[in-house]
Amino acid sequence: MTAATIDGKAFAQGLRERVAAAVPAFVAATGRAPGLAVVLVGEDPASQVYVRSKGKSTLEAGMASFEHRLPAETGEDELLAVVARLNADPAVDGILVQLPLPAQIDEAAVIAAIDPDKDVDGFHVINAGRLATGAPGFVPCTPLGCLMLLKDALGDLSGLEAVVVGRSNIVGKPMAQLLLAESCTVTVAHSRTRDLPAVVRRADIVVAAVGRPEMIRGDWLKPGAAVIDVGINRVPGSEPGKTRLVGDVAFAEAAAVAGHVTPVPGGVGPMTIACLLRNTLVAAHRRERLDAPAGL
Ligand code: GUN
Repeated sequence: MTAATIDGKAFAQGLRERVAAAVPAFVAATGRAPGLAVVLVGEDPASQVYVRSKGKSTLEAGMASFEHRLPAETGEDELLAVVARLNADPAVDGILVQLPLPAQIDEAAVIAAIDPDKDVDGFHVINAGRLATGAPGFVPCTPLGCLMLLKDALGDLSGLEAVVVGRSNIVGKPMAQLLLAESCTVTVAHSRTRDLPAVVRRADIVVAAVGRPEMIRGDWLKPGAAVIDVGINRVPGSEPGKTRLVGDVAFAEAAAVAGHVTPVPGGVGPMTIACLLRNTLVAAHRRERLDAPAGL
């Protein structure tokens, strides 16, 4: 069997277009654009790239972007004061504090300070609790994007065996909750799992989010499984001094066994920002007591 490659880049582009298409009606109803505030502390190069990309995508969708860049020495109190201002700012619907934060700042304290109804990252414990109990809230962007790709590829997920490899608060745990809400039978595997290949082999759906290059091999997969690769790992390339990106799944091996598989790059990656824009649009509608646009 040769797996169908799931084109996350194309799906993300479509989602961004659907979000952008819903903005004019929001502007007409409220007299303002949905607004996303992104806060970056320090100069981590990867974080700078992400923040720039988020700001650009926000503007491209017709939404307002508010960027706050603070020096690496910023104290926790100063950052908490910025978050408090954004919570109170009526033009701001979504707040994203880029992680990781410098060591002197307690990330959990900062996330806890964000108004849960502006927490478009879905990292606040209130939103984790809403997800776990089936209440409306915000779901972290990466697992939300994975779920959209799975439903697009497979349709109804009810009754399927899903194995999530990785138990982070940002991907693994919310992914498991989302799949459970779709009536999958969910297993969360991790670094202490015994006989991981045998566990993965049970799965109709595999979501790999461990950060270990090409750890999941083709012979771990049930033929026809849908494989979602969240990993983005930089490894040495074929030429000296060059690097390349690989996922947590050995792509070529998986493609020979699976039914569907996401590539790296171009699979899950582009979905994250598209889902951030989607969450911001939804946050804006909820704050204004408007019905959220359908089909997002
Ligand atoms: N750092 C890496 N990914 C993310 C993300 O999705 N949200 C935030 N806030 N920080 C990140």
